[in-house]
Amino acid sequence: MRGLKGKTAVVTGGAQGLGRAIAQRLSEEGCNVWIFDLKRDGEETADSIGQATGNPVYFVQVDIAAEQQIEAAFRRVAEVSEQVDILVNNAARFILKGIEATSQEWKAILDVNVIGTSLVTQHGLPLMKKAGGGAIVNLSSVSGFVGQSSFATYNATKFAIRGLTKCWAIDLSPFHIRVNSVCPGYIRTEAFENSCVQLGIDPEEENARISQLHILGRQGTAEEVSGVVAFVASDDASFITGEDLMVDGGYLAK
Ligand SMILES: NC(=O)c1ccc[n+]([C@@H]2O[C@H](COP(=O)([O-])OP(=O)(O)OC[C@H]3O[C@@H](n4cnc5c(N)ncnc54)[C@H](O)[C@@H]3O)[C@@H](O)[C@H]2O)c1
Repeated sequence: MRGLKGKTAVVTGGAQGLGRAIAQRLSEEGCNVWIFDLKRDGEETADSIGQATGNPVYFVQVDIAAEQQIEAAFRRVAEVSEQVDILVNNAARFILKGIEATSQEWKAILDVNVIGTSLVTQHGLPLMKKAGGGAIVNLSSVSGFVGQSSFATYNATKFAIRGLTKCWAIDLSPFHIRVNSVCPGYIRTEAFENSCVQLGIDPEEENARISQLHILGRQGTAEEVSGVVAFVASDDASFITGEDLMVDGGYLAK
């Protein structure tokens, strides 16, 4: 893909799942990648991707719900990479509650998925301006388009991501920064397994049920999403901004 080689990318939540696949794909495309994640495993992820691709991959342990940690993380980026060209806002919590959600549960999920994402973008912006422009990719979901039973807390945040995307596309265009969201259908990551535990359901039965919701009859893979993220971050997508890119195996079309 055009325009990725030698660029600096920050991927939040890159220790596992989709974030890991995105970090890997951007590294394969020649980017220097920074993984921001709560989990220490991110260090191992960064090392193994860097060894495989031969490009630098760095890890910073950061809770994106803590503004001071975000500021400190970008100070580290600035010391080494000086600027940021690509920001992928991928980190999220999966608190799956309906009308019964408590104020603590609402605060916990909003603090990461909406406020944390916004603060990462705010504090990353000076380094993107320094680069003279770039691309922000926010992870929304089919859950940002439709209602799903007992998912109110999560879906509200994924709808919010699409709103942030459209507002930031307008606000950041004077700085030559494009902003888009990528919206996967169900992808079988650690989050899927954890959600099954949270909801008390069998993962294989749930996989069979969910697969039927997609025209393609299956869940997607992390690599099927990471390629689209790399595309929308690249110069091949230079006329795409404020857009939602569906990677959902036909979930919404059905
Ligand atoms: N898996 C799916 O089916 C699916 C579908 C649509 C959209 N998405 C979106 O894709 C993104 C990644 O999902 P996933 O399935 O890979 O999830 P995951 O739970 O497997 O990985 C999420 C990562 O984010 C990190 N993280 C969570 N809270 C954090 C915090 N406060 N600070 C820093 N890091 C934090 C976790 O440690 C983890 O490494 C999310 O935004 C999710 O909403 C996932």
